[in-house]
Amino acid sequence: MKLHRHEEIWLIIGVGILVLSMVVTGYQTFALGMGPPSDKDTIDPQKVDETSPFDNPGVYEIGENKYEVIMTLQAFGFTPNEIEVPAGAEVTFRMTSKDVTHGFQIAGTNTNAMVMPGHIQTITETFDEPGEYLVICNEYCGAGHQMMGTTITVK
Ligand code: CUA
Repeated sequence: MKLHRHEEIWLIIGVGILVLSMVVTGYQTFALGMGPPSDKDTIDPQKVDETSPFDNPGVYEIGENKYEVIMTLQAFGFTPNEIEVPAGAEVTFRMTSKDVTHGFQIAGTNTNAMVMPGHIQTITETFDEPGEYLVICNEYCGAGHQMMGTTITVK
């Protein structure tokens, strides 16, 4: 069967658009770094408890008023559950989920991240003002989603 001229043209345009979008996406992912977290930021969600650094969740001082929080998220809580840092602290949160996708939002700040099983999410926030910062999960994750929260105390 011979294709009509019009069909042929549309076929070429269709394939052209497909290839073009693949090229654009590929360029953004690899050249501009806009893709999802890369291989080095992945983790086996079944083995979070045995995988460094998540085998030791907690708050670690890594420099002058610089902290790293190694955190796991799971239905329906954050580990560690109590975080305390001095005012002015620059805190990098390294997080992963042990089950489903959770959210990490610090009320009153711009910090808002999605934490997915299999991926390591890193986000940094500087806490200039002392106070109690409410952390909530903003991704629906099941029956206890509403209760999933913790606080960060800045002294
Ligand atoms: Cu965890 Cu919603």
